[in-house]
Amino acid sequence: MFKNPLRKRQYIGSLIGIGIGIIIYVVLPLKQSEDYLSLGPMNTGHEGLSCDACHTDAKGTLLQQLQSNVSFTFGMRKKAADFGTENVDNKKCLACHDRPNDRHPTHRFLETRFKEAITQIDATQCETCHREHNDTRIVLAEATFCVNCHYDLEVKNDPIDVPHEKLIADEQWSTCLQCHDFHGNHIYQVAEKLKDTIPLREIKAYLKGGEDPFSKKKKHLPLSEEEWRTINSKYLSAR
Ligand code: HEC
Ligand code: HEC
Ligand code: HEC
Ligand code: HEC
Ligand code: HEC
Repeated sequence: MFKNPLRKRQYIGSLIGIGIGIIIYVVLPLKQSEDYLSLGPMNTGHEGLSCDACHTDAKGTLLQQLQSNVSFTFGMRKKAADFGTENVDNKKCLACHDRPNDRHPTHRFLETRFKEAITQIDATQCETCHREHNDTRIVLAEATFCVNCHYDLEVKNDPIDVPHEKLIADEQWSTCLQCHDFHGNHIYQVAEKLKDTIPLREIKAYLKGGEDPFSKKKKHLPLSEEEWRTINSKYLSAR
């Protein structure tokens, strides 16, 4: 077929080129979309966000990422490298959700006196309670985790009809969220009678991603993606 050995080498060369092309443009994206398709829908409020609002570039050059993903495709690596993404940490969330008056700010629980409680509920990480791609608002099915820190709570001049002391003695930990929101960001009147509390089923539906039973009014609203992009435009164009 090839009388000229040069033509033969060119022919093999282009086959290899096409092969690499297929791997980069067909196989890798397939592997990627497979990972993406196995993810659940975005959480409440995040439906319109672009992926890069949370997933910014991973370390390592594009070539290194390509190499490790090629190894992954051929079974030489157990896990695909973060392809253009790095771990989504508190900082990413706080870039839009900074609430200066948060009554339970994540940084506070780094103090050593919370060491014990943190082994039960890691309140230093948004992700403990708000895992993304789960079509939820909060991943905890039962919001009774208040017990880990408030088990010895004493309220002076307690205004409620069944005092906190009694609720705690009776281990009524699911009542807490029926009166108090967690971050203290809603504007509403806290009930003083047990019969006026938000029904538990409404709280549970809210945790799963449903309607907000506390209030439509908030002290601090998150940044929209547009506002976030404007504030971070310098950083975003540098990468
Ligand atoms: C509101 C923030 C947010 C947005 C927007 C977002 N993600 Fe995620 N994503 C996360 C978090 C949190 C995780 C959990 C793993 C982690 O912390 O890195 C995650 C995990 C993943 C994973 C699992 C692999 C990994 O890196 O751990 C993939 C793949 C992924 N996201 C793809 C996407 C795609 C595609 C989009 C756009 C449609 C998107 N994400 C939008 C926050 C987000
Ligand atoms: C680019 C900005 C942006 C980033 C980054 C972001 N969010 Fe959001 N988030 C929003 C917006 C906007 C809403 C919708 C607010 C609304 O509907 O009033 C929202 C909604 C939410 C809600 C539901 C709020 C409600 O009304 O009940 C939670 C919970 C939440 N985000 C947590 C997180 C966590 C955890 C992260 C980090 C993994 C994160 N967000 C990253 C902008 C952002
Ligand atoms: C220990 C569990 C826990 C941790 C950690 C946690 N949250 Fe929440 N979050 C909740 C619960 C419970 C609610 C529902 C009650 C409420 O609205 O405050 C909630 C509600 C929210 C809401 C909607 C209400 C509002 O404040 O506007 C946003 C937004 C939110 N969380 C963002 C975050 C971010 C960002 C982080 C990390 C900096 C974080 N949360 C850490 C448990 C947690
Ligand atoms: C990881 C520990 C921890 C967890 C879990 C926790 N809290 Fe707290 N909470 C605290 C600390 C610390 C304070 C501040 C107390 C102080 O200043 O003396 C606080 C304060 C409060 C306050 C009073 C805020 C104010 O401004 O007066 C309320 C109400 C509250 N928590 C409700 C809850 C509810 C409801 C839950 C469960 C959904 C919960 N907390 C879970 C540690 C925690
Ligand atoms: C019937 C509604 C109701 C229930 C149920 C309830 N609280 Fe309260 N709580 C209040 C009111 C009202 C106050 C006093 C005004 C305020 O601080 O908002 C209060 C105050 C507090 C304070 C502040 C104490 C201080 O000295 O400043 C904490 C912390 C607290 N509650 C935690 C809890 C926990 C944990 C639970 C669950 C065992 C719980 N509450 C159940 C209504 C309730």
